[in-house]
Amino acid sequence: MRIYFSILAISLCLGVTAQAADVISERKAGFRGNVAALKIIKAAIPAGDTPAIAAEARKVADWSSRMIDYFPEGSGEGDTKALPNIWTEFDDFTALAKNAENAAVELAMMADKDEMTSLGKGLGKLAGTCKACHQRFKE
Ligand code: HEC
Repeated sequence: MRIYFSILAISLCLGVTAQAADVISERKAGFRGNVAALKIIKAAIPAGDTPAIAAEARKVADWSSRMIDYFPEGSGEGDTKALPNIWTEFDDFTALAKNAENAAVELAMMADKDEMTSLGKGLGKLAGTCKACHQRFKE
């Protein structure tokens, strides 16, 4: 009986670890998607391709609105650069994700309205929200 429980405990632990590893790789993929979107936007600004800017900015906004769901308690261990203060200061972390979402939505709306002269500034603001969070919450 004791052995059975030990095996059960071990397999439960392994299960949790596997889940954490999944969520870590999923969030990294999400962030890499952000970088890809920002690159497309950067090239689309001089090209004046406002539909592409709006579409990519909305992808960043969508990811940003879901980002915090990929940081469950216990997912700070393993192949991750997430700092432990994410889980002690989760409200601040959430607020910084919201800032990224808002900046991305703002940029998309500028593109919708063909506000060509504001786009560079809008992109800079969005990139600033990435940096603000990384400085505090990423290794
Ligand atoms: C609210 C906080 C927050 C915001 C906003 C944020 N990031 Fe991150 N980012 C993180 C954290 C935390 C990690 C570390 C994830 C890990 O290693 O588990 C990370 C990781 C990354 C990585 C590394 C992914 C990998 O493969 O290891 C890239 C690239 C990245 N972010 C880009 C961005 C870009 C671009 C933006 C803005 C559009 C952004 N991030 C916005 C918190 C944030």
